[in-house]
Amino acid sequence: MSNSISEIIKKEKLNKADLSYLLSLEGKERDDFLKQTGNHYINSLGKKVYFRGLVEFSNYCTKDCYYCGIRKGNSSSERYDIDDEAIIDAAKFAHENRYGSLVLQAGERSDKIFTDRVTALLKEIKKATNGELGITISLGEQTEEVYQEWFNAGAHRYLLRIETSNKELYYKIHPKDEQHNFEKRIECLRTLQKVGFQTGTGVMIGLPFQTYDQLADDLLFFKAMNVDMVGMGPFIEHTETPLYKYKDDLWPLQRRFEVALNMIASLRLLMPDINIAAATALQAIDPMGREKALRYGANVIMPNITPTTHRKDYTLYENKPCTDEGAEDCSNCLSIRVEMAGREIGYNQWGDSKHFFNRQIDKQ
Ligand code: 5AD
Ligand code: FES
Repeated sequence: MSNSISEIIKKEKLNKADLSYLLSLEGKERDDFLKQTGNHYINSLGKKVYFRGLVEFSNYCTKDCYYCGIRKGNSSSERYDIDDEAIIDAAKFAHENRYGSLVLQAGERSDKIFTDRVTALLKEIKKATNGELGITISLGEQTEEVYQEWFNAGAHRYLLRIETSNKELYYKIHPKDEQHNFEKRIECLRTLQKVGFQTGTGVMIGLPFQTYDQLADDLLFFKAMNVDMVGMGPFIEHTETPLYKYKDDLWPLQRRFEVALNMIASLRLLMPDINIAAATALQAIDPMGREKALRYGANVIMPNITPTTHRKDYTLYENKPCTDEGAEDCSNCLSIRVEMAGREIGYNQWGDSKHFFNRQIDKQ
C-alpha cells in the first residue's frame, strides 16, 4: 500500500479519487504518507516558517454562522472592541520582535464607521512600523470599493475562508439568507484577487455531514480558484451555537485532527508554492498540533498577540489555546516549538506566497 502512496506523491496531477484516498488514510499508512510528504516538501520548499502576529481586535459580529462562538445570536458572548492605540502597540510589538507581518481579524462588520476606522488603522500601522510590517487582514465580505481602500491603505494579503466549497453543506452551517450567500462569498474572493491582494481561503474539517469526497473537492476548489494562501483546521463544536446539537454525530476530535493534517499534506502536494497556515484550532485538540502541521506541509504560524485582557473573549470555539499568556510568552514559546519541529523562523520577512508571484509571471 505504501507503494501506491509513493506513486500518488510522485504524480503530476492529483485527481479527486487520489485526494479522497489520501484524506481517508489511517494508522501506519497515514504515518507513511505524512512522513513522505513532509520530506518531499522540505526538500523542495525549504525549512522557513513565517510568523504573523495575530490581533483579534473585536468580537462584535453582524453575522450568525451556525458554528461560531461570536455569532450575533450568542448573547452570552462578552463583547469587546480594542482601542486603536492598543492595536497599534500590538503592531509595534510584532515589528520589534521581528515577526515580519501582522494579521488583523475581527467579527464581520461593514458599516462605514468600521470600514473607515480600519482604513485609518492600516495607515497608522504602516507609519508606526516604517512600512516594514506586512499586513494581512481577515475582515469578511466587503464591497470592491472597501477592499480597494484597504489595499491602498497598506494591507496586501486577505483571508476569507469559504468554510466549505459544497453549496449544500454551506447552507447547513449558515442561515440561508442575503447575509450568508455562497455565491457572494466566491465573488468576494474573485474581487480580492482583482484588487491585487494575495488571497487566502480555507475550510473547516470534520463539520457535521462532511465527507472525504467533499473535503477532496475543497482542495480542488483552492486549486481552481488559484488562491495564494490557505488556512484550515478542525471544526470544534461550541456549546452556544446551533451546530452543537450534532455533537454526537461528529468524527471524534482526534480523527478531525488527523484528517486536518491529511488535508494539509495533500494540499501541499496539490499546490506546492502556496502559503499554508498551521491553524490555531489544531492546538485546541493536540498540544503539539501546530508543530505537526509544520512538519507535514504548513509554512506559516500565527502567534496570538491580542492584548490578553480580551483574548479569552474571542472564543470562536472552546478550548482555544494561549488565551492566558502575554504576547512575550507566546512568542518565546512558539520559537522553541518551531525549532523543535525542525524548521527555521523567517524573522523580519513578509513571507509572501510564492504562488502569487508565480501567477503574475504566468499572466505575462
Ligand atoms: N471550530 C473551528 N473553527 C471555527 N471557526 C469559526 N468557528 C469555528 C469552530 N467552531 C473558524 C472559521 C472562521 C475562522 C475565523 O475561524 O473557519 O473563518
Ligand atoms: Fe461572525 Fe460568521 S459569525 S462571520
